[in-house]
Amino acid sequence: MQDAVQVAPQTYAFTAHMPVPNIGVLPVNSYLIQGDEPTLIDTNMEVERDDYLKNLWSLVDPDELRWIVITHDDNDHAGNLRAVMEAAPNAKVAFNWLAKARIDDHWDIPMDRVFFLNPGQSLRTADRELVTVRPPIFDSPASLGIYDSATGTFFGGDSFGSIIPEPVENVADVSQQAYEDGFRLFNSLLSPWTQLVDQQKFDATIEAVARFKPKTILSGHGPTAEGMSDQLMQLMSTIPQVEPFVGPDQAAVEAILAQFEA
Ligand SMILES: [Fe+2]
Ligand SMILES: [Fe+2]
Repeated sequence: MQDAVQVAPQTYAFTAHMPVPNIGVLPVNSYLIQGDEPTLIDTNMEVERDDYLKNLWSLVDPDELRWIVITHDDNDHAGNLRAVMEAAPNAKVAFNWLAKARIDDHWDIPMDRVFFLNPGQSLRTADRELVTVRPPIFDSPASLGIYDSATGTFFGGDSFGSIIPEPVENVADVSQQAYEDGFRLFNSLLSPWTQLVDQQKFDATIEAVARFKPKTILSGHGPTAEGMSDQLMQLMSTIPQVEPFVGPDQAAVEAILAQFEA
C-alpha cells in the first residue's frame, strides 16, 4: 500500500493495487475526508490492514474520527471496518441496512454505532452534506454512491473503476485507450447483469450522478478522475453493450502458470 495522497480538497486516498495477470493492476481505494467531522469512505482490504491503519492514523487521531461510510459490504471495502471501529470509539458507521445484514454473518455491529442510509438520503455532518445515490454499476444490493457537496467529489464505490497498466495517481497519467479499455472490462465484469438492462433505465442511473456535475470522481477501483465527469458518464453508458467477460478456465490458468514457471 502506498502512502496517502491528497486527491481533492480535504480528501485523501489510501491505495493498494491488486495484480491482474496480463493486463496490469486494479486499484483498491479508501478515502478520508478531513472535515470538521473526519469521515472515512470505505476501509480497504484486510490483507493491507497493518499499512492501512498506519497510514490512516497518521492523518487522523482515532478519537477524532466521527464517521465511516461504507459503500457496500464487500471485503475490499469493509475489510477493516471492525479494526477501525475498535480503534476509533467515537466513530459510527453509516451504510445501507443490507450492508449490516450481510456483515452480521461474521460480526454483529452494535446498533448504537450504526446509522442507516438508503439511496437518495443524506448524511449531514457539521460542515457538509453527503448525498447518496444507487451507483450505476454494483455487485452488492447494499451499494451507495456518495456525493460530497462541500468539495464536489463523487465516491463511486465499485462504479467508475478501471484496470490500468501500472499504478498511477491520476487518470491523465494513463493512455486514454488503456484507461477506457480497462474501464469497460472492469465495469462489465463486475456487473455482468448490465447485459440485461434497458438502456434508458440504465442511463437514468448515470444521470442521477451526472446531475451533481462532480468536479472529481473517486472510484473504489480507479485513479483520480478530475474534470472528466462528462467523459466518464458517456463511457459508463456503453457498458450494457460490452461483450460479457469470460474468466480463464482451469486449462487456461495452468497455461498461464506454466508461462510464469518458464
Ligand atoms: Fe463490490
Ligand atoms: Fe470493490
